[in-house]
Amino acid sequence: MTRSTTQAVGRVNPKMKVAVIGTGYVGLVTGAVLAEVGHDVVCVDRDQSKLDKIDNGVSPIYEAGLNEVLSDVVSTGRLVTTTSIEESLKGCEVLFIAVGTPSGPDGQPDMSQVKSVAAEIGKHVYGPLIVVNKSTVPIGSADVVKSWIVEAGANADTISMVSNPEFLREGSAVKDTQQPSRIVIGASDEASADKMKELYDSFDCPVLVTDVASAELIKYASNCFLATKISFINAMSHLCELTGANVDSIAEGMGLDDRIGPKFLGAGLGWGGSCFPKDVDALIQISESLGADPGLLREVKGINQAQTSRFIDRLRDELGGFEGKKVGLFGLAFKPNTDDIRDAKSIQIFKAVTREGGSVLAHDPAAGDYAKADHPELPQTDIPLEVARDADAVVLVTEWKQYNDIDFSEMADLMKGDVVFDGRRHWDKAAVEAAGLRYFTIGGGTGD
Ligand code: UGA
Repeated sequence: MTRSTTQAVGRVNPKMKVAVIGTGYVGLVTGAVLAEVGHDVVCVDRDQSKLDKIDNGVSPIYEAGLNEVLSDVVSTGRLVTTTSIEESLKGCEVLFIAVGTPSGPDGQPDMSQVKSVAAEIGKHVYGPLIVVNKSTVPIGSADVVKSWIVEAGANADTISMVSNPEFLREGSAVKDTQQPSRIVIGASDEASADKMKELYDSFDCPVLVTDVASAELIKYASNCFLATKISFINAMSHLCELTGANVDSIAEGMGLDDRIGPKFLGAGLGWGGSCFPKDVDALIQISESLGADPGLLREVKGINQAQTSRFIDRLRDELGGFEGKKVGLFGLAFKPNTDDIRDAKSIQIFKAVTREGGSVLAHDPAAGDYAKADHPELPQTDIPLEVARDADAVVLVTEWKQYNDIDFSEMADLMKGDVVFDGRRHWDKAAVEAAGLRYFTIGGGTGD
C-alpha cells in the first residue's frame, strides 16, 4: 500500500466528540482524518466484520494511505468503533450521516438507509446535537431527515441540521480529505455554522458557509459539471476521429485558458463509478420533479452512453462480429487506484462481447475480488499479459500504471489476432505498431 505523502494541517484545539455513521469511502475517510487532526471519533457500522478490521488499523476498503492513518488514530484511541448508534451518541456533539444513497429504479436517490439512521438517532438522542448530512441527498433532505428524527422521539429544538457535502475522489480520498479544495457548510443557524467551522479549524482551505439547500445543490452541481466537462471532450473526440484532429491537442488548447482549465478533459470510454452516473440521474430526476428542464444533463448522459457504444461498435466492426472471438481486457475497475467496478466500462464491454457469442479474459490489479463476487461468470487472470493469449483483440479499459510497461512484442506473440483498442489513449501507438499490431483509440490524431 502506498504511503500517503500528505497530512491534514495541524491539530485542533479544542477537540470535539464526533460520530460518523457508515464506514464506506466517505464515512471512514472522514472519520479517520477528523481523528487525525485530534477529534475523538466513533465510527458506526452495522457490519461487525468491517469494524473488526478498522479496530486493527486495517482499512476494509482499498484506498491509498488509509491504513497508515487508521493505524495511527486507532492505536492512540482517537478513533473507536461500534455497531450501536445509541452508543455513539454518548457525549456526541456532531454526528455525520455517511450511509449510501444509491440510485433507486426511477433515478431518485434511495434514502432508506438515511431514514433508518435518523430513526435510531431520534430514539436515543438526549442532548443538543448537530446532524450533518455527508451523504449525497436530494435538495430539501435536511428538513426531511430532521422530521424523521423528531418523529422517532427527539425534541426538535435540540437538533440542528447541517449539509456538508463531500468532494473526495476514490483513489485519492485520504489526500482529498486532508487537503480539500474547499469545505462547504450549509447551516440553518449561526451557532451550528460556527461549530462546524471550529470542527474544521485546522484545515487550510476556503470555507463557504451558506444555506442548507445551496450546500445540497453544490454537491450535485459539482459532480454534474465535471461529468459535463468529460462528455464535452468526448463529443469533441468523435469530431476528432472524423476530421483527423487530435483530442489531446484540443484538450490542451482549451485547458490553457484558465477560465476552462486542463482538468477533467481526458477523453476516453466515458465516465463511470459510484458517483457521476448516480448524481447525474438524480439531478435529472430532481429537475423534472420541480418542472425544470434537465435537457443539458440528459445530453451529457446520452453522450456518455454513446461514447462507450461507439467504441464497442468499432471493436465489433474490426473483428467482423464478436461470434467466436476472444477479447482480452486490461482493467476492470471504473478508474485506476480503486477496486470499485460500479458502472465500470469493462462490464459493459464484457456483456456486449459475450451476448454476441464471443469470450473475454480480464485482468485487474485490484478489482478482481469484487468483479468475481458481482460477475462470477467473468473469467479473470492474475497475470496481465495472459489476457492476450490467443486473443483476437485486446482492449485497454482502465489506465493502471501497471499497464505502462506492457511488452508489446510479447503481447503480439501471444495473440491470435492483431487488434489493439486503447480506451484511454494510454499506450504509445508507435510502440504498439512496432510490434506488428494494429492500434485503435478514441479521439483521433493517431492516423487510425
Ligand atoms: C467523483 C468526484 O470527482 C468527487 O469530487 C466526488 O466527491 C465523488 O465523485 C463523489 O461524489 O463521491 P470519483 O467518482 O471517485 O469522484 O471519480 P473521478 O476521479 O471523478 O472519475 C469519475 C469518472 O470520470 C471515472 O470513470 C473516470 O475514468 C472518468 N474521467 C475522469 C474521465 O473519463 N476523464 C477525465 O478527465 C476524468
